[in-house]
Amino acid sequence: MFVVPEYNHGYNAATKNALDYLHREWRDKPVGFVSYGGIAAGTRAVEGLIQVVTTLGMVPVSKAVNIPLIQRLVDADNVFKPNDRTEESAVALLDELSGGRPASDPRAAARPRTSAVAVGVEQGGRGCR
Ligand SMILES: Cc1cc2nc3c(=O)[nH]c(=O)nc-3n(C[C@H](O)[C@H](O)[C@H](O)COP(=O)(O)O)c2cc1C
Repeated sequence: MFVVPEYNHGYNAATKNALDYLHREWRDKPVGFVSYGGIAAGTRAVEGLIQVVTTLGMVPVSKAVNIPLIQRLVDADNVFKPNDRTEESAVALLDELSGGRPASDPRAAARPRTSAVAVGVEQGGRGCR
C-alpha cells in the first residue's frame, strides 16, 4: 500500500523512485493507494501511478482511500485525524488487500471504485488544487 500526495496533477518523485528501484520484487503483488491533496484528493496522482504499477506487473485493487483537503484533518499538533468516511474506506481497502478480489478479477470489474473523496469534508479551501 502506498500513501501518496498529489502535486501539480502528478505523483511525487519519492514514490516513483521507490517503484523504479525494485523490479521483480513488485511483480504480481496486489497494490492499493491512500492519496491526499487539495480538492483533487490525490486521485490524479493515483491514476498516474496505476500506469506505472501495472507496467511493473502489480495488480491494483479496486478500493482506494482518497483524502481531499488534507490540511483540514490535521490538528494543531500536526496529527492526522481521519473522519468516519476515511476510516471506512481504509478498512475496505485493507480488507481487499488482505484477501479480497483484485480489480483484475473479472468478477470485481463490475464494482465501482470506492473512495472517501468529498464525503464528510466540506469543499472549499485554496481553490482547485
Ligand atoms: C505547488 C503545489 C501543487 C499542488 N498540486 C496539487 C494537485 O495538483 N492536486 C491536489 O490534490 N493537491 C495539490 N496540492 C496540495 C498538496 O497535495 C497538499 O499540500 C499535500 O499536503 C502535500 O503533501 P505533503 O505535505 O505530504 O508534501 C498542491 C500543493 C502545492 C504546494
